[in-house]
Amino acid sequence: MHGFVNPPVVHASTVLFESTDAMKNRRSLPYTYGLRGTPTTKALEDALSELENAHETILVPSGLAAISIPLLAFLGAGDHCLIVDSVYSPTRQFANGTLRRMGVEIEYFDPHVGPGIAELMRPNTRVVFLEAPGSNTFEMMDVRAVCDAAHAGGAITMLDNTWATPLYFRPLEHGVDLSIHALTKYPSGHSDVMMGSVSATRETAHRLRETQMQIGVNAAPDDVYLVLRGLKTMGVRLERHRASALELAGWLEGREGVGEVRHPALPSFFDRELYERQFSGSSGLFSFLLPGSFARASAFLDALQIIGLGYSWGGHESLAVAVDLSDRTISKGPSDGTFIRLQVGLEDVADLEADLERGLSAAKGVT
Ligand SMILES: Cc1ncc(COP(=O)(O)O)c(C=O)c1O
Repeated sequence: MHGFVNPPVVHASTVLFESTDAMKNRRSLPYTYGLRGTPTTKALEDALSELENAHETILVPSGLAAISIPLLAFLGAGDHCLIVDSVYSPTRQFANGTLRRMGVEIEYFDPHVGPGIAELMRPNTRVVFLEAPGSNTFEMMDVRAVCDAAHAGGAITMLDNTWATPLYFRPLEHGVDLSIHALTKYPSGHSDVMMGSVSATRETAHRLRETQMQIGVNAAPDDVYLVLRGLKTMGVRLERHRASALELAGWLEGREGVGEVRHPALPSFFDRELYERQFSGSSGLFSFLLPGSFARASAFLDALQIIGLGYSWGGHESLAVAVDLSDRTISKGPSDGTFIRLQVGLEDVADLEADLERGLSAAKGVT
């Protein structure tokens, strides 16, 4: 409008109607109430639908809400839900807590299950939930094989696509019905906003939107504007995250005092074939094993000066955390040592390398 290159930020609860007739037939109007969205939310929804090749996208106030809302939309008492064991831990907590309390049967499966998921399907299996790569441990999945078997058994499929972003993986083109994002990460990109999205096929969109409206959540317009702004530079930022992370992963591999490095694009990665076949790029998040006691991991982390200690990822700044895998039942953690997860930011690689060297030196003297 008027030649401005960015959409206006529209704050709204009330939308006025021209007549009682228009009010009665409001379903045909694009905007009827703030909760349903404004031209600002619509601009981000449409951009994400285009990137994900989806029929429709909903926005919610966090990545975790983008997981809980579709699960609530498609599950009820007596249903069975299959979830990959390498899932983001709060997804498991929601399933084990709220969903089980609602009477949903929850079962976890091996990320390498492939077409074998067919054997886990029951007549009441309604949802198969995937995440690729797995949170913190980075197992890849054969997405098409799992989705085909899930659909043959009458279930719908959801995939947390936060790591790859739609630039490096488009789940709906591999048989997924609902693609989930923590927009908090790369799309926002600056560690200052929380938001989530769910992009849906034509068949699943209506029920998803209906549930969003019944629960009564949407994203706030100022936050939406920040994510729209972030999205415009996501491609160039992601390329830098990709290159820096891959360089550091290669640098760490084989260094004294470092165990296995888990980065999907490394030639040594155990699921490299699955990664290459399905993904067109890697982002800035990977893990490596620091063998030995937790005191060694603490010494490493506490010595870092550039890389911060903090949760979340996808922002401009590098972060590290010691990974907790104590809730896993199948994709378990290492028997000796701690996985350190690195979120590689936009800093100079040489500075980050020096920081990691500092951490490794500090860990060296600790048993
Ligand atoms: C894979 C994955 N999905 C979802 C989320 C949740 O996102 P948010 O922090 O916006 O709730 C996270 C957060 O770390 C994540 O790592």
